[in-house]
Amino acid sequence: MDFTLSPEHQLFRDTVREFADKEIAPKAVEIDQTHEFPWDSLKKMAALGLMGVPFPEEYGGAGGDTLMYAMAVEEISRVDGSTGITLAAHTSLGASPFYLFGTPEQKEKYLKPLASGQKLGAFGLSEATAGSDAGGTKTTAVLDGDEWVINGSKNWITSGSIADTLVFTAVTDKTKGAHGISSFIVEKGTPGFEYGKTEKKMGLRASVTSQLFFDNMRIPKENILGQPADGFKQFMQILDGGRISIGAMALGLAQGAYDIAVKYAKERQQFGRPIADFQAIQFKLADMATQIEAARLLIYRSAWLKDQHLPFGKEAAMAKLFASEIGEFVCREAIQILGGYGYVEEYQVERMYRDVRLTTIGEGTSEIQRIVIARHLLREAR
Ligand code: CAA
Repeated sequence: MDFTLSPEHQLFRDTVREFADKEIAPKAVEIDQTHEFPWDSLKKMAALGLMGVPFPEEYGGAGGDTLMYAMAVEEISRVDGSTGITLAAHTSLGASPFYLFGTPEQKEKYLKPLASGQKLGAFGLSEATAGSDAGGTKTTAVLDGDEWVINGSKNWITSGSIADTLVFTAVTDKTKGAHGISSFIVEKGTPGFEYGKTEKKMGLRASVTSQLFFDNMRIPKENILGQPADGFKQFMQILDGGRISIGAMALGLAQGAYDIAVKYAKERQQFGRPIADFQAIQFKLADMATQIEAARLLIYRSAWLKDQHLPFGKEAAMAKLFASEIGEFVCREAIQILGGYGYVEEYQVERMYRDVRLTTIGEGTSEIQRIVIARHLLREAR
């Protein structure tokens, strides 16, 4: 067992860390206030190869692995959750469906521009009445000659209204439940593809979260992804991978808040000495650091399992569950250490607290992660 990062992984992490500190961090407070989408940062991330870290170079990616990808999301989220979730949703949800299930033509047409960061991707599973019950999809797809006719809507779609491509689920056979759902591809600007409101969120305010509507939207027959009726299973597999990156996002936010809290505790003087001298503060820092370290081990291990082509669904759910819940704890404790300063925008931890809250909800709530974990455990115990 070797817990050290390879020199290649260390160099990658250090490069992303430096980039995040220099290019992303200075804008984080402002874009949270203005809700301005960080197009400029994404362009710079694309130039560094960060928009397609885990995809092979032949498909426009950086030829890295899942561990590098998790570290990239962690380092970007450490300074800005909005840019972090945009990167995670683009890579795991927008681009990976093409990598996992696309035909060679679909990989060429859609994955290449996504992995190279020329285009932005999104993923549409959730609906107004199909959240945790992902199989409750109401959107329908009916084959009419050489075209699919799509009707329905999607909710809570990260980058939905600004993405160039969307992979989404629709029911192709109402009688078959989860086995009657297929996945489709649609490009921005297709007639009948309409955008509803952009959500005004508690956190992650510089990321775009949209309602989407399909009104007799026609897409070519070949815009089905993989085999018809495989949509539900495909999306479950995509989410297994996505959960590693949402865990990494929570980890990054926790690390960011912890770093600010340590610095503050060493500088802030009360009762004639730095507050870091007091055990009340030391115990908080010790608990925060221990939980961050445990979350990092779970996330890196699930990424490693995926890279070894070993089963990783249970571990990814555990990593996401743990990292998101400790993320909230760590950000809350950071605010407590900063006291009144923690409650104002300038000191950033209140933003991190608002941002990390989403990670216990998005890509499967903590409750869904527990269901996924328990089902794995009970299957293994047979
Ligand atoms: N990999 C492969 N197959 C899987 C699978 C997986 N991880 N999970 C389930 N399946 C298969 C099952 O084996 C089963 O197949 P068979 O019938 O052939 O045996 C089939 O899929 C149905 O599975 P279940 O009976 O387990 O399905 P369920 O209805 O009980 O749901 C669930 C299971 C885990 C609760 C699932 O619905 C789930 O994960 N829900 C949460 C969805 C979620 O995370 N939503 C957030 C999406 S994010 C988004 O849309 C917005 C955005 O931009 C971020």
